[in-house]
Amino acid sequence: MAVKVAVTRERSAGETRVAITPDSAKKLIALGVTVVVETGAGAAAACTDADYRAAGAAVVNTLAEAIGDADVLLKVRAPEAEEIAILKPGAIVAAMLNPHGGREALRALADKGVTAFAMEFIPRITRAQVMDVLSSQANLAGYRAVIEGAEAYGKAMPMMMTAAGTVAPAKVFIMGVGVAGLQAIATARRLGAVVTATDVRPATKEQVESLGAKFLAVEDEEFKNAQTAGGYAKEMSAEYQAKQATLLSGHLAKQDMVITTALIPGRLAPKLVNAAQVASMKAGSVIVDLAIEQGGNVEGAKLGEVAVTANGVKILGIPNLAGRIATDASALYARNLTAFCGLLLTKDGALAPDLEDEILKAALVTHGGQIVHPSLKA
Ligand code: NAI
Repeated sequence: MAVKVAVTRERSAGETRVAITPDSAKKLIALGVTVVVETGAGAAAACTDADYRAAGAAVVNTLAEAIGDADVLLKVRAPEAEEIAILKPGAIVAAMLNPHGGREALRALADKGVTAFAMEFIPRITRAQVMDVLSSQANLAGYRAVIEGAEAYGKAMPMMMTAAGTVAPAKVFIMGVGVAGLQAIATARRLGAVVTATDVRPATKEQVESLGAKFLAVEDEEFKNAQTAGGYAKEMSAEYQAKQATLLSGHLAKQDMVITTALIPGRLAPKLVNAAQVASMKAGSVIVDLAIEQGGNVEGAKLGEVAVTANGVKILGIPNLAGRIATDASALYARNLTAFCGLLLTKDGALAPDLEDEILKAALVTHGGQIVHPSLKA
């Protein structure tokens, strides 16, 4: 019997994305599996039941029909308790499991005997680029952060010279120039803003400049060594953070929009903007804190809220920015997952994951009743 791949509706609040789109369902079916989709799973991402059926998937009405005898469950977020309860032991789950934060779900998956892969742990090697969900989603989140910021900003972004006078271009400062930050720079530039950016990894300086923005950072010895072998930022010393705050204070006071995206894997987000710096900004300025789900980069940012400070600065703490462009975010995520499924299946469509494969090994979080990932064992 063909391997059964299930796709269910995301149940966590505000999640608009779907793990597999009709296009990707078609590609999965071409790999020799059957795809079963819970009704309405793609509705918030503009993927209709009819589209899934046309792609060759079966659309079912209940979770039990979707998951009951499924060999593989594909999700955006970790499955909920009601889904885990009906998964068969030995089934495979692939999703953004939030492995450092979502311990309860991991425990439940392990207890059920599920083999679960956290898509966030896919290594950033060339062979796995097509499966890199952090990049596919961060890129869209970076774009959307600028769009949300522009919407909340009471002035225009580009310079406009009109008979009635000149509108000055917005000054936009991007803090943290990974995948999201680079896209935020590009988007703000397209809207006509004057863009500056900062990061602690020296490699970002050239990337910022190549996008036509100006780079600003404390470029000392610590900065020169701030990038790990894996390409991520290290947590900076208190001394560095103090120097960074001093350098950036004067600059922040002059900005119209600040987009913060700084993250350190497995840690709370670094605090980059303190309350005094927010208080120094002009009324009407906007801060978008993209790191809000990891604790936030900005003092005073609140998850799911627009905080307006006493001096009239809006701080946007929007979670799941990629979910605000659910159609594109789902399409890219689904392609990431479909490529990943290629590693689970043989040419004949049989389920035979090689857990020693570098990519599968890196992403494997539960197996044989245990939480097995080295970074999660403690
Ligand atoms: P991330 O989401 O972990 O962090 C965002 C940014 O915040 C990073 O640029 C980081 O340096 C910065 N940051 C951390 N602490 C900071 C502080 N105190 N002040 C200012 N900035 C701070 O990063 P992301 O987007 O996941 O990218 C990480 C690395 O992975 C980059 O080198 C990127 O080029 C690389 N990458 C490689 C890929 C591949 O080879 N397949 C694909 C995507 C990214």
